[in-house]
Amino acid sequence: MNKIGWGIVTGASSGIGKELARIHASKGGNVILVARRGDELVKLSEELRENYNVETRVIVVDLNRPHAAQEIVDQISNQGLEIDFLFNNAGVGGYGLFHERSISSELDMIQLNISTLVELTHLILPQMIKRRKGRILNTSSTAGFVPGPYMANYYATKAYVNSFSLALSEEVREYGITVTALCPGPVNTGFEATAGMAGSGLFAMADTAKATAEKGYNAMMKGRLQKITFPSFAFMLKVFVPFTPNRIILRVIQKIQKVK
Ligand SMILES: NC(=O)c1ccc[n+]([C@@H]2O[C@H](COP(=O)([O-])OP(=O)(O)OC[C@H]3O[C@@H](n4cnc5c(N)ncnc54)[C@H](OP(=O)(O)O)[C@@H]3O)[C@@H](O)[C@H]2O)c1
Repeated sequence: MNKIGWGIVTGASSGIGKELARIHASKGGNVILVARRGDELVKLSEELRENYNVETRVIVVDLNRPHAAQEIVDQISNQGLEIDFLFNNAGVGGYGLFHERSISSELDMIQLNISTLVELTHLILPQMIKRRKGRILNTSSTAGFVPGPYMANYYATKAYVNSFSLALSEEVREYGITVTALCPGPVNTGFEATAGMAGSGLFAMADTAKATAEKGYNAMMKGRLQKITFPSFAFMLKVFVPFTPNRIILRVIQKIQKVK
């Protein structure tokens, strides 16, 4: 017997998403696992069924493709599944000078980190509103609080996710739905390599994917608006940054970001 409802996790094939799926299943929640690497999703799916006796579904899809979110929802609807938990987690970064990076990578990043997240949320929300029940966890980043030289587009996508999540949380509050933005600092996942950041000093202090996912999941269950996973970052971003001139913030972030 299920203790909690179906959850859908994008980016479940590795890192934070994989751990979010594990946590949700450990609470007795059924999980829909979404990413491109089907073999990883199938492995995780088998693990979750075996360990937690939950139902799982695997959806292999490239979320860089416009309207990939619609494909996910079509598959879910065809199977009559009702979603109570939405984990918008898939995302990528990309390191380098903006003018030297390929524009297709930058636009794909916007599609994945913003457009697909927005579209999936828009497609799933009506059924949550109808049932007056639902929790949404958007994996954002501490990058969303400041501009990020060498990762200008990535930081901007996460600023979008922070703003969108906060505003949406207020709109859906009266329906009993919560929206939480998980804002991790550096985490040991595939992200560093995919983003081309190997050698960045930032990751020397990285948290684990498991600990990060636990912090996010707990914040979501408490209906928190945001969870900044490093307390020292929370202090800097909420107290120090708002009163510091932009030029100083930019120099500091540029220094931190520089890959040696
Ligand atoms: N790691 C960090 O330091 C850090 C810090 C702050 C925020 N975050 C955020 O945390 C989230 C998860 O990243 P992570 O750190 O766990 O990195 P990760 O281990 O690289 O995981 C990224 C996940 O996104 C999926 N993904 C990427 N591109 C996709 C696409 N086109 N279509 C479908 N799925 C795609 C990947 O699956 P496939 O490759 O199988 O498709 C993978 O499951 C991201 O939103 C990231 O921005 C990470």
